[in-house]
Amino acid sequence: MIVCEHIFKSYFSGDLETPVLKDVSFQINDGEFVAIMGPSGSGKSTLMHILGALDTPTAGKYLLDGHDVSKMADDELAEIRRKKIGFVFQAFNLLPRASVVRNVALPLVYAEMPKAQREEQAKQALLQTGLDESRFNHLSNQLSGGQMQRVAIARALVNNPSLLLADEPTGNLDTNTGEIVLSTFQKLNATGRTIVLITHEHDVAAHARRIIHIRDGKILSDEVNARQITTRSRVEE
Ligand SMILES: Nc1ncnc2c1ncn2[C@@H]1O[C@H](COP(=O)(O)OP(=O)(O)O)[C@@H](O)[C@H]1O
Ligand SMILES: [Mg+2]
Repeated sequence: MIVCEHIFKSYFSGDLETPVLKDVSFQINDGEFVAIMGPSGSGKSTLMHILGALDTPTAGKYLLDGHDVSKMADDELAEIRRKKIGFVFQAFNLLPRASVVRNVALPLVYAEMPKAQREEQAKQALLQTGLDESRFNHLSNQLSGGQMQRVAIARALVNNPSLLLADEPTGNLDTNTGEIVLSTFQKLNATGRTIVLITHEHDVAAHARRIIHIRDGKILSDEVNARQITTRSRVEE
């Protein structure tokens, strides 16, 4: 579903070129759970922006579900993002004084759909994250960090995207709460979701089935993670 061929990305300021991604190639199949891991400054977020159709490469090809994203104009990028990609970031970016269900239903405002149906779809997405139903009508600022991130995951899922992209999703969470969020990703993957998780932490990447190491804009290794961490006992907040 994802094909990256010889991706290069540079930032330009005036005549000054800063090369960030230097010939990156890989493929990700439907249903994989892949971590992209590397130290700060290695180009992870730059790569995520390209995978997420937020930006296009300077050179090289990126195909998502057969669509050539590398050549798309801004309006086409916006459309492919809306249809195919769900984003989860380190910051939860929820509307603090809106209810959990309203936060999750928000991306559906653009779909022509009655409010009751939007809320029903939001609840379905929330149920997939394992957030307790008693929280659904709370305001999002009444939740713990781990609960907020599960709401953000539900919001990313509500459009039923083919790809879930998460950039340092546990960066604002303590280890135990991070485990809950990572086990949420594992459960979603077990039901067939394709997930790309970006992190600088080995302990986080270790939850994925495959780990791509990047350093200084190049792929160092790309391997099946034989020692995938799976959460045995369910930790609750
Ligand atoms: N918009 C930008 N303009 C110029 N340089 C940038 C920009 N974004 C990132 N960079 C540079 O690209 C390199 C990689 O950044 P980034 O992709 O954010 O890495 P990571 O997410 O792995 O920390 C860094 O050296 C950073 O300073
Ligand atoms: Mg980053």
